[in-house]
Amino acid sequence: MARTKTLFVCNDCGGTSPKWAGQCPDCGRWNTMEQSREVPRARAVGWSGDAPRLVSEVEGEIEARWPTGIGELDRVLGGGLVPGSVTLIGGDPGIGKSTLLLQAAVRLAGELPALYVTGEESLRQVGMRARRIGMEAGGLQLLAETNIERILAQSETVKPRVLVVDSIQTMHTDALDSAPGAVAQLRESSARLVRYAKQGGPAVFLVGHVTKDGAIAGPRVLEHMVDTVLYFESDLGSRFRIIRAVKNRFGAANEIGVFAMTEQGLREVPNPSSIFLSGHDGGVSGSAIMVAREGSRPLLVEVQALVDETRSGHPRRVAVGLDGNRLALLLAVLHRHAGIAMFDQDVFVNVVGGVRIVETAADLPVLLAALGSLRDRPLAPGLVSFGEVGLAGEIRPVPYGEERLREAAKHGFERAIVPAANAPRARQKGLEVIGVKRLDEAVEAAFS
Ligand code: TYD
Ligand code: MG
Repeated sequence: MARTKTLFVCNDCGGTSPKWAGQCPDCGRWNTMEQSREVPRARAVGWSGDAPRLVSEVEGEIEARWPTGIGELDRVLGGGLVPGSVTLIGGDPGIGKSTLLLQAAVRLAGELPALYVTGEESLRQVGMRARRIGMEAGGLQLLAETNIERILAQSETVKPRVLVVDSIQTMHTDALDSAPGAVAQLRESSARLVRYAKQGGPAVFLVGHVTKDGAIAGPRVLEHMVDTVLYFESDLGSRFRIIRAVKNRFGAANEIGVFAMTEQGLREVPNPSSIFLSGHDGGVSGSAIMVAREGSRPLLVEVQALVDETRSGHPRRVAVGLDGNRLALLLAVLHRHAGIAMFDQDVFVNVVGGVRIVETAADLPVLLAALGSLRDRPLAPGLVSFGEVGLAGEIRPVPYGEERLREAAKHGFERAIVPAANAPRARQKGLEVIGVKRLDEAVEAAFS
């Protein structure tokens, strides 16, 4: 038996140090080092000890993917589950992580041995949920357990091809004496599961809790260890759920899948294009419709802004579903290059439906929505826009311009204000495309 040794682990980054330090030697944060005892591992990451091999030999062994039978989940996974992969799913409490994984596990269990381990609910609760979502969980094995060694032992008898661990924060390993949920426990428990998956074990799904600011609770190393990280996003009160791949070793990052939470669990929304519009018939000031492109498909999204006189010395800039710093930057460009000042105004911007827009194509619609609210003038109904705004007030092209325009035309929009470089030479059927090069031109076109 290897000797145990004392070490100190950073709560934030998971870095270790043999002695206590006020500041983490790895990430530099203060007061994050916590004492922990660890049994040194016989072997670290080395999986096989094999000699190097030619990539052409290895290629032949690449197995096909297993479709989960849930199209929107397969889409974010990059076309199905990769055998031996580890996927971490994060999201707010109650957003539907357990529901989605139970649905996927039940489907997969029809084809392959699958094991669902819960550390949060009783077997009865999970069984009731399976019934509620109308699924006969016939082939699915359930286990209520929080000890990693016992889970691995059970898994050795069941030999599942798919293993769900719900959630990683409730798990603990005997190798450490810190409490479940402690950073060292989280890191070590995950490391064991990752090693198990990579040594010819099952494909593993880990459920991860998120902190108040939306990051997966625990060290960032968790996200580095796994192959795929998926995040659930949603608006308070909205029944739509968006699942986004923020990291994917086997597919495109930023791909999204869209679901609706129903009485019978999560239902796929394979054509989400227009569900994020608020549905009013135009004529509302402070609203602009954009064509976003999230992952591999275009999405019509409504950006709303409220601009109101500041009551304090510090005007507020609040962005929900968008980057707040970018909003401040855009307002500065609007002042400098279109002569419109909002330094005595509070500016609130929100993307309808809980979608988060990470692309710069939202720049122009954000400014048009804010300006509409400032002037209390609605944009023309049937108007869409997209485009990046540069610091010099120029409107820059964005990728997939034509595809975005086609989507707008398909949904009956009549006018589009877009970067000049994105405007097609040929006329679009039913859609008047106005190409603009500068911000003041765009403002003129939108409010003339
Ligand atoms: P859950 O999957 O338990 O969330 P998480 O694991 O992310 O914490 O989701 C629970 C929520 O979903 C709960 O508020 C009830 C709701 N729900 C439905 O609306 N319909 C259903 O069929 C199920 C199973 C849950
Ligand atoms: Mg849960």
